[in-house]
Amino acid sequence: AAVTGPVAESVAYPNIALVKYWGKRDEDLFLPVTGSLSMTLDIFPTTTSVRMIEGPTDVIEFNGVAATGAARTRIETFLDLVRARAGRADRAMVVTSNAGPTGAGLASSASGFAALATAAAAAYELDLDGRALSRLARRGSGSASRSIFGGFVVWHAGEGEGEAGDLSSYAEPIGGDGLDPALVVAVVNQGAKAVSSRAAMRETTATSPFYRPWAESSVLDLAEMRTAIARRDLPAIGEIAERNALGMHATMLTARPGIRYLSPHSIAVLDAVLALRADGIPAYATIDAGPNVKVLCTRADAPRVSAVLDGLGDFVTTRTAHIGPGASLTTSSA
Ligand code: PMV
Repeated sequence: AAVTGPVAESVAYPNIALVKYWGKRDEDLFLPVTGSLSMTLDIFPTTTSVRMIEGPTDVIEFNGVAATGAARTRIETFLDLVRARAGRADRAMVVTSNAGPTGAGLASSASGFAALATAAAAAYELDLDGRALSRLARRGSGSASRSIFGGFVVWHAGEGEGEAGDLSSYAEPIGGDGLDPALVVAVVNQGAKAVSSRAAMRETTATSPFYRPWAESSVLDLAEMRTAIARRDLPAIGEIAERNALGMHATMLTARPGIRYLSPHSIAVLDAVLALRADGIPAYATIDAGPNVKVLCTRADAPRVSAVLDGLGDFVTTRTAHIGPGASLTTSSA
């Protein structure tokens, strides 16, 4: 297809929630039930370019191949939203690739939609500030709202429904200056998940008797997490993050039927984290919609933590991440 406009290219990094987003109050607008808080990473970025093309359909290349099925539909639907905002009909060519595993609970949709929102807004000449970009990215994947920003980021649940909810549900960076933790990512399975987080959230909120209690406790966790970050208290941050994540998995396990992302390998890593703590190393685990475990610790302890986890066996490989930057435009030229 003939290219008719400038190219906008962006890069965005995944984020890992320390207080989780789990459950929507509005599926169409991606309004969450509760607020969440994350750390943006400096590994596994997504790079995305968007340019206008002639012709009736979008051309979408995902990790080197033409996108098909649900992945394609999700990107097209997102582009339709951008086009509606811009009042334009032009089709686009999107080329996107993830440096890390896709759909494995390693936040590829967060970096992916943060990068796509940033590049598509530039290509369609929408002039959006960080808050508006965060609200836009939210419509691709809720967690993407947080990857617009670097460092520690809170995503406000927002107040009300409809437009009021949409306007008030955005992410913003919070302090945390002086905090420089490491997140040791223990990859036990690179494969894509069998149940999407969207479907799992829907089932969990609709059927788990544990969902409401978790959501209520998560509101308290978020408030406590903010004060723990403000006083740079890594053990408190880790304790809150670990209990919040295990609670989220409890809501999934008690959905009807139950949803289980944890594998025996995830449990082996959780056991190793307990053993590290028994040895006096402040290390804390969090797990998303997949079996991989992320372990929060100090930068200085990260080599020891990763050595212990790597030593568990061939089933685990680690990558150590630190605090990373927000999404950015890397090129916007003719
Ligand atoms: O935005 P989604 O659909 O990728 O959902 C993310 C859900 C969790 O990763 C499990 C939690 C979170 O807050 O990122």
